[in-house]
Amino acid sequence: MPAPVITATGLTKHYGDLVAVAGIDLEVAPGESFGLLGPNGAGKSTTMRMIGAVSTRTGGDLQVLGLDPDTHGPEIRSQLGVVPQEDNLDTELRVRDNLIVYGRYFGIPRAVCARRADELLAFAQLEDKARSKVDDLSGGMKRRLTIARALVNEPRVLMLDEPTTGLDPQARHVLWDRLFRLKERGTTLVLTTHYMDEAEQLCDRLVVVDQGRIMAEGSPAQLIREHSSREVVELRFGSQRNQAAAERIAGLGDRIETLPDRVLVYAADGEAVVEQVSRLGLHPTTSLVRRSSLEDVFLRLTGRSLIE
Ligand SMILES: Nc1ncnc2c1ncn2[C@@H]1O[C@H](COP(=O)(O)OP(=O)(O)O)[C@@H](O)[C@H]1O
Ligand SMILES: [Mg+2]
Repeated sequence: MPAPVITATGLTKHYGDLVAVAGIDLEVAPGESFGLLGPNGAGKSTTMRMIGAVSTRTGGDLQVLGLDPDTHGPEIRSQLGVVPQEDNLDTELRVRDNLIVYGRYFGIPRAVCARRADELLAFAQLEDKARSKVDDLSGGMKRRLTIARALVNEPRVLMLDEPTTGLDPQARHVLWDRLFRLKERGTTLVLTTHYMDEAEQLCDRLVVVDQGRIMAEGSPAQLIREHSSREVVELRFGSQRNQAAAERIAGLGDRIETLPDRVLVYAADGEAVVEQVSRLGLHPTTSLVRRSSLEDVFLRLTGRSLIE
């Protein structure tokens, strides 16, 4: 086993009385695409900032690339690429110059910066925007530029905090494709997200976090297998009737969740549940059978939806 690039043990962060990170253990292997999946306020960004050596920990142990961020911040920062939750591009500079100036911060020679800037603009599909102002880019383009910038120093690990939050579906897919290519090239990715589809698309392995704690860990498929059934039936009886209907079908499937707008029945065979429901004389307005997702895992572990 190659040495892990990140190891955290009992990692905590307090802000006064508030416990943002409540003792987490995690390990990221080189070449892995690792995710932190959790809702707003779970402590994802705080964890990323501690790993990125820009925020000190309150307690626990943390090693990044074999170094302690408390004592080796600059060495760690020079080997990481960071895409923060909020884009912090330099709006005074044109697109290409953002890459070059950032590279110069790391002491990379100008000619090397220029060559990398051109390669990264191609990778980020921003070649024809090289001379544009940052403010003229769309949200998805800004995000791709921020990723390109994070790659200028050829980092050993790319950290992405909510890479596609706030983007429209098409821009998200373009970004996923770019990240997938990095993953295929063997770049180690550490990303946070509150989108279960993003975690399923990009993560080899992930931790589900809630209120500063890790609730579960594994590959998307493992997590679904361990914490949910194979299929889910979504039944909509109308907001007035969901509760009563849920009581009548209480014995069906492995488990039932009643949400305000629908009733979820977890079962190995969804179609069989749909038949049983109609045999009970119940007629949902709509019924949909689908595979279990990480959203179901989260609901199971926390009793809440990822996106409230
Ligand atoms: N600089 C800060 N000062 C005080 N509280 C903070 C600070 N940053 C984050 N928090 C709090 O810590 C908790 C975790 O926040 P954060 O790490 O941003 O979560 P996430 O990224 O998962 O949404 C939240 O309750 C948030 O309000
Ligand atoms: Mg955050």
